[in-house]
Amino acid sequence: MTSRITIQFTAKHDAPTYPVILLVSGKDDAATLDSAGIALDKSLSGAITRAMTEAEFKAGAGEDIIIRAAEGTVILVGSGASADIGTDTEHLGGYVASALGRSKLKHATLHVSDMSPDWMASVAHGAHLAGYHFSRYFTKGKAAKPVMSTLNIAVDDKDAVTTAYARHAGIAEGVFLARDLVSEPSNVLYPAEYADRCKALSDVGIEVTVLDEAQMAEQGMKLLLSVGQGSERESRMVVMRWNGGGTEAPLALIGKGVCFDTGGISIKPAGGMEDMKWDMGGSAAVVGAMRAIAGAGIKRNVIGLVGLVENMPDGKAIKPGDVVTSMSGQTVEIINTDAEGRLVLADVMTYAQHHFKPAAMVDLATLTGAILVSLGMVQSGLFSNQDALAKAIETSASATGEHTWRMPLGADYHKLINSKIADMKNIGGRYGGSVTAACFLERFVENDTPWAHLDIAGMAWSDKSKPTTPAGGTGYGVKLLTHLAEHFQPSAK
Ligand code: BES
Ligand code: MN
Ligand code: ZN
Repeated sequence: MTSRITIQFTAKHDAPTYPVILLVSGKDDAATLDSAGIALDKSLSGAITRAMTEAEFKAGAGEDIIIRAAEGTVILVGSGASADIGTDTEHLGGYVASALGRSKLKHATLHVSDMSPDWMASVAHGAHLAGYHFSRYFTKGKAAKPVMSTLNIAVDDKDAVTTAYARHAGIAEGVFLARDLVSEPSNVLYPAEYADRCKALSDVGIEVTVLDEAQMAEQGMKLLLSVGQGSERESRMVVMRWNGGGTEAPLALIGKGVCFDTGGISIKPAGGMEDMKWDMGGSAAVVGAMRAIAGAGIKRNVIGLVGLVENMPDGKAIKPGDVVTSMSGQTVEIINTDAEGRLVLADVMTYAQHHFKPAAMVDLATLTGAILVSLGMVQSGLFSNQDALAKAIETSASATGEHTWRMPLGADYHKLINSKIADMKNIGGRYGGSVTAACFLERFVENDTPWAHLDIAGMAWSDKSKPTTPAGGTGYGVKLLTHLAEHFQPSAK
């Protein structure tokens, strides 16, 4: 699915074309028009200033008023005290999209004075992201046919803005792909179908290889296979390669792709189980990031690897107490079949290291309910064996507004997953569940490869809309990973 808002840049004329959208500064709690606004207000004999006074409009970020003048419609959107290029400007674009949506107008022109091409492009990006909708399964009414609008953006230097925007548009493709994948129900998006959708990325220059169950068995990926063995749907692993960076060692991005998580024999309660269709959110972030990295033409080598399975109870399903040998050779006692994500990731991590010797490895997963207890639906949990990599991820998180908070690892937590019968067990005790899950993954890091794990269980889905993220699959991680792929400098541990 795509955006209800089509972005178009047009050359700026002195007199703006109606319907027009103005951004109004809300510095010092007072609404102040820019020069485009002042000129328009004059031509309307002060109608804009009067409307602002009447509505006690303070131009706080996201505040808006819609003025239906005889000459045409004017929408005022508050930009707050200041808007730096990045999250602020994207949010501003989101507010513009929201006001445009409520106005029911099919098109409008955003007229802003004196802002740089990068600033304008970022606002456009925010509006485009905010207009995303997933309406595939509605057959009737408004939801089936959302109002599509064109946001014309009047700019001084059309070429410069168009160039700056191209990169954002590439990234948005990745965010939308991730949101689509997360939104799809599991009867549609099961591992084989998911792998087929990944194959389509070859259109944008990504090399895609799919491993089926027999090929994974040959690799010794028994842990991953054990999770899928109770399902009628066969497991898959998809390897996506973007060779933008010459001979450098690649960054490996690894994603948990549990297309549905019933818990398996350790079955989950029925209430809310439908949420487990998005237990592939980590893999969606990786697939979306690969799309975004290609779309933005990032000049680095990046490999995306996703383990795609369905966790079901069945006569053939893995059972509590079973012991399985991982691809790494280490053995795992499965105490709880609902702690399945770590089993999938462990084998994919081993595969990534054995086949690609990555400079660094970052995995994303909707891994634990416990991370929701720790951090809520505000930021993901970050675990890493290397401070430099953790810092780089924190920098990318702040730059993109996809926030994360570093969490601990360490020997005292590792003890909690020692098993009485095998090298480790797949759950710790009652407490610190996100940390013991991360420790489990850390045991599959070889040769001190810099590694980081993002537990995104609180971030992949949102019931509430945010300025640039409509309710539903968020695409969390795509922007963060794309920024990281571009900026991170590998260093030995
Ligand atoms: N997919 C879940 C984690 C999850 C919970 C994601 C809520 C999104 C929202 C994961 O596979 C799981 O079931 N984890 C268990 C681990 C437990 C058995 C140690 C959990 O968090 O309860
Ligand atoms: Mn589970
Ligand atoms: Zn799960």
